[in-house]
Amino acid sequence: MKFKIAPSILSADKDKLQEEVNEIEPYSDLLHVDIMDGKFVPPTTFKPEDIKKISSKVPKDVHLMVEHPIKDNFIEDYADAGAEIITIHEECKDDIKEAFKLIKSKGIKTAISINPPTALDKIKPYLDDIDMVLIMSVNPGYAGQKFIPDVLPKIKELRALKPNLDIEIDGGITKETIKQAVKAGANVIVAGSSIFKKEDKIKAIEDLREAAKY
Ligand code: DX5
Ligand code: ZN
Repeated sequence: MKFKIAPSILSADKDKLQEEVNEIEPYSDLLHVDIMDGKFVPPTTFKPEDIKKISSKVPKDVHLMVEHPIKDNFIEDYADAGAEIITIHEECKDDIKEAFKLIKSKGIKTAISINPPTALDKIKPYLDDIDMVLIMSVNPGYAGQKFIPDVLPKIKELRALKPNLDIEIDGGITKETIKQAVKAGANVIVAGSSIFKKEDKIKAIEDLREAAKY
């Protein structure tokens, strides 16, 4: 299982987004892109054209925190904006299997996410159909929140069920919490504030990689 770091550009400086992406990408495995619709979660974030114009050598990992990934055209728009993997939420209001079908029809990898209160059982029916599961370790909507350790047993259970599946964790990752996440079985690590809010972003990524070796 390859260990991957996915910096979340939600915490980057919007006025120099490309500059910040250029700085971190040699040290990153994915570029995590948080999309919010103002309904599934209160805030809104990027527009498809903001993401399309980012040039990135690492794959764009698009996390759709939206109510209607199909009906509101998020899948179409972010496929067009260059996503290489699209994550939808189990809690969204469109048909999950239809969403996967649409994502796959664009030649894009599929992933499903669950919020902290959602049981792992809810996504068990999809596990053979997808490339990655994203376990939220904060309630979605904002960067800089505190890690919720109660989600770790879901990761442990999922890793036991699927030894080779990419398991991504998102929210509140620091040098301390990354150890718990990796120990539980996560191998794809999203980090926003703990990279972009640091003076030396490269050192921040290296520190996370080092801490993950628990
Ligand atoms: C939260 C987003 C996260 C966020 C993580 O709703 O899905 O990707 O950017 O930020 P940190 O790492 O600061 O918790
Ligand atoms: Zn995210």
